Amino acid sequence: MSSQPRLHPLFARQEIEAAVNRLAAEVRQDYHDKCPLLIGVLKGAFIFMSDLVRRLDFPLEVDFVRLSSYGRGRQSSGRIKLVGALTSEVKGRDVLVIEDIVDTGLTIAFLLDYLKKKKPNSLKLCTLTDKPSRRQVAVTIDYLGLTVPDKFVVGYGLDWDEKFRNLPEIYYLEGELGR
Ligand code: IMP
Repeated sequence: MSSQPRLHPLFARQEIEAAVNRLAAEVRQDYHDKCPLLIGVLKGAFIFMSDLVRRLDFPLEVDFVRLSSYGRGRQSSGRIKLVGALTSEVKGRDVLVIEDIVDTGLTIAFLLDYLKKKKPNSLKLCTLTDKPSRRQVAVTIDYLGLTVPDKFVVGYGLDWDEKFRNLPEIYYLEGELGR
């Protein structure tokens, strides 16, 4: 079907901004003297990451990873791989992974496991959104912005078929698409 899905508002700009401000305060408290390495997961985390780091007024470094799932569609296949190599040295660093959404948890579990093997001094996860109803593997979220219902959500970096990442608010898709 080529018709566009219908969008329903879930989080307004002010709610997202409040969540990002709160997360920035928490991260600042824990990392202000650690010069952490923040690793954003592309593409979904690009807007959240850029808003978050601009609220952090201490030395830090930024890098990105891109992961791909071998399967197709909106579901994680569980067979994840890293696209391209991570250029930053992780060993001995205080690493904070920045994610857009934790759904089944398969993607982030893969990445955390991959990074752990590189022996960081510490490794934590900050995610803008969490969809706990769909979890398949246990994931510890150290910094959580917003909890979302069992719906497909878009906006503020999150996409449906590569669309809607540019929306400043977060919406859920209606009907079949939104589960
Ligand atoms: P997971 O492996 O199931 O936790 O999800 C991995 C990826 O699927 C996320 O990083 C998102 O890119 C994508 N994803 C999962 N749920 C949604 C959603 O509701 N909207 C947009 N993308 C999603």
